Order: sequence, then structure tokens, then C-alpha cells
Amino acid sequence: MIVVIGSINMDLVLRVPRMPAAGETLSGSAFRTIPGGKGANQAVACARLAAGGAPAVALIGCLGDDGFGDTLRAALVAEGIDVSHVSTMTGVASGIASILVDANGQNSIVIAGGANDLLTPAHIDAARSLIAQASIVVLQLETPLVTVEYAINLAHALGKIVVLNPAPAPTADLPAAMLARVDYLIPNEIEAAMLAGTAPQDVAATAVALRTSGCRNVLVTLGAKGVHAALAEGTRAFAAHPVAAVDSTAAGDTFIGGFVAALAGGEPVVDAIALGQRAAAWSVTRHGAQSSIPHRHELFDAAPGLSRPTTVCPS
Ligand code: RIB
Repeated sequence: MIVVIGSINMDLVLRVPRMPAAGETLSGSAFRTIPGGKGANQAVACARLAAGGAPAVALIGCLGDDGFGDTLRAALVAEGIDVSHVSTMTGVASGIASILVDANGQNSIVIAGGANDLLTPAHIDAARSLIAQASIVVLQLETPLVTVEYAINLAHALGKIVVLNPAPAPTADLPAAMLARVDYLIPNEIEAAMLAGTAPQDVAATAVALRTSGCRNVLVTLGAKGVHAALAEGTRAFAAHPVAAVDSTAAGDTFIGGFVAALAGGEPVVDAIALGQRAAAWSVTRHGAQSSIPHRHELFDAAPGLSRPTTVCPS
């Protein structure tokens, strides 16, 4: 089983010709509400990208007792995700994300955590037997850090592979003891530089600094520039698939889901990275968060501009 611990949001999405300046009112278009949230997106990506017979996926998180909460829970159930530890919090709004997507497919996101902010260590304790069944536990930073830290300690103590996506970028240093229990840290280049205190352009130094700080393996996602992996067995650069991007929302979540699904299925790390990249490339050719995440079979169907993953270049 793969257990994802994290946020569940309703994304309120508008297309805009460009990002507005401070104080400016712009006309947008194509308003949509789309299930999102980094935790839910990563759980959905794990479920859609698992090979046949692969481990089941469960999500631990919190929803509000509103209409969005009902819709978001139903979306997870429709993916076959175990939601027995998705709690509905009384009198609280579900998490939402206000997302602007510009003509280049770049996004700007503001979140209101709502029920996500109420995920506590008690929820993790209540899910202990579920976590004990997992091979991999996946977390992000859209739920309280105290809970993330508690869950990582528990998962590590139970001998699980721990994957942490430190997103959104933390505003303070993450606890060193927590990072030392992370098997795969998967930041984007901004998050990586903020964590390491290095310049964003020096990805290699950043990844090495993060490994030195305790994480066993660091995968820095670089969007159209690929992935820089500082693995226990060495450093490698993975080229990206060139695609025409329409919306980058949840590309990182899709990479993580593909990587974790492949790893949980017993595939080598290098192949898991390649699958995650391929899935992320697919996702940016579609709109929205969960609406953009491909199913595994789609990755190997004929796809314009997207060939099978190939080169792995030692850096
Ligand atoms: O990573 C993309 C996600 O970030 C969106 O779905 C939004 O909900 C925010 O959590």
C-alpha cells in the first residue's frame, strides 16, 4: 500500500492573458472548479500511474463539511483511493486554491488551508494500522508541520520509505532530525534552494547540500529542464520530454505520483524517475490538477510530441 498524508483542495481556476499587476483588475475566462490539493493530487497520481496489481493507495487528510468536501471525497472514491482516514471536520470549510493560469501555461496559486490546517498528530495515531501496511509514505507541506514531522517519525520508526515533497516552499528551516528520516526529498528548484540556502541556478550544489543535511536521496524537479537526482549511488541528470505546455498545475504532483507508483511496484529508481517525468510531461498538456493527471496506459499510447522515455545522462 502507498499512504499519502496531505492536503485536499478545491481549485478555483481562471485563465488569464497574463498575471495581473498589484491593484489591477483583469478579465479572465474559462472559470472551473477542479479537485486539487497536493496530497490528493499525489494520491490520484499514484492510483492512476500504478501498474496492474500494484499496491493500493490510501489518503490521510481533512475535509470541511461543505459541498466542496462532498465533491472532493467523491472524486477520491471514484479513483479507488482508500478514504477511511479522510476526516470531515464539523463547521469548517474545505481547503481551496485560487489559481490563475496565464497564456504560457504558468500558474499563480493562493491557498486557504481550511480543514487541511486541522490535520493533527491524533489523526496520524488513528491511522497507525493503515500506515503500518504501507511500503511508502508520501507527504507535503500543505498540512501543519508538526503533523508532518510526527508522521515522518512514525513512518520511519515503522521502517517505511518516506517521500517528502517540501511544497509549498517552507518559510523557515525544516527540522534536521526530520530531514534525516526522509528517503526521497522531492523539491522544485525554488524549494530546494530555499531549503539549502543556495542560489537557485546552482542545482547540483543545492542537491548535494540537501543530501549532506541528511536526506538519503534528493530529486530536484526543474520543469522543462528535467530532473536533477542526487541519489545515494550517485548524481544524474534526466532530460525532460519536450511538450507544448498549456498548464503546469500539478506537474510536480504527477511526477511524484508516477515515481512513487513505480517504486512501490518494484521498479528501479531510475525507471521510476523516468515514469514520473513522462507522466508530468503528459499532465502539462492538459488543464487543471487532477483533471490533467494521466493513467498509466496513456503514457505508452501514441502521443504527439512525446516518445518513450529514453536518455539518462550521467552529469
Ligand atoms: O500542486 C498543485 C496544487 O497546489 C493545486 O491543486 C492546489 O490545490 C495547490 O494545493
